[in-house]
Amino acid sequence: KRVVVFISGGGSNMLALADACAAPDSPAEIVAVISDKAEAAGLAKAKARGIPTFAFERKNYDGKAEHEAAILAALDELQPDILCLAGYMRLISGAFIGRYDGRILNIHPSLLPLFAGLHTHQRAIDAGMKIAGCTVHFVTEGMDEGPIIAQAAVPVLGTDTAEKLAARLLGVEHKLYPLALKLVAEGMVRMEGGRAILSPVA
Ligand code: GRF
Repeated sequence: KRVVVFISGGGSNMLALADACAAPDSPAEIVAVISDKAEAAGLAKAKARGIPTFAFERKNYDGKAEHEAAILAALDELQPDILCLAGYMRLISGAFIGRYDGRILNIHPSLLPLFAGLHTHQRAIDAGMKIAGCTVHFVTEGMDEGPIIAQAAVPVLGTDTAEKLAARLLGVEHKLYPLALKLVAEGMVRMEGGRAILSPVA
């Protein structure tokens, strides 16, 4: 399956996906990395791995529709089967999602439906959570609310700061996302009727 990964920053999840897809038996191949920030550090890391990169600086476009149209035109050339949002800090429109319905994944650093949105680690600590986690889900129009594909949890320690918890979680994200992508690329999980359906092993 052809995969395009979307990033806005460091791209550590993109790298984890790239490393997993480099395995000879991988059902997924990353054909490009796209960013809404020309300076995203992840772009250089993707280039270093020989992965084509495309930057679409939001300020170069009059509006959201024009920005998305440029990205969609690039995707039409790339013909991806699956889009993976990985630290992509922009909401995509219903029209865009509709073009790739059921084929867009996102990783969010909380155990959804808890703590959708930003500052998830501090909010988990402030709420006195004893576990925190990350979620890979299908992207739907609402933010961080699509059908859940996979989740993983880590302990929240009494000495945790948001930074410490984020670092602990990031290592787990780097295992969870490749697993979730593999399940979708192999057709073991699909989105149907607004739910993530796990198929029995064929
Ligand atoms: C990660 O916590 C991820 O869950 C969130 O963005 C953060 C940075 O991701 N989506 P990355 O290092 O850019 O992949």
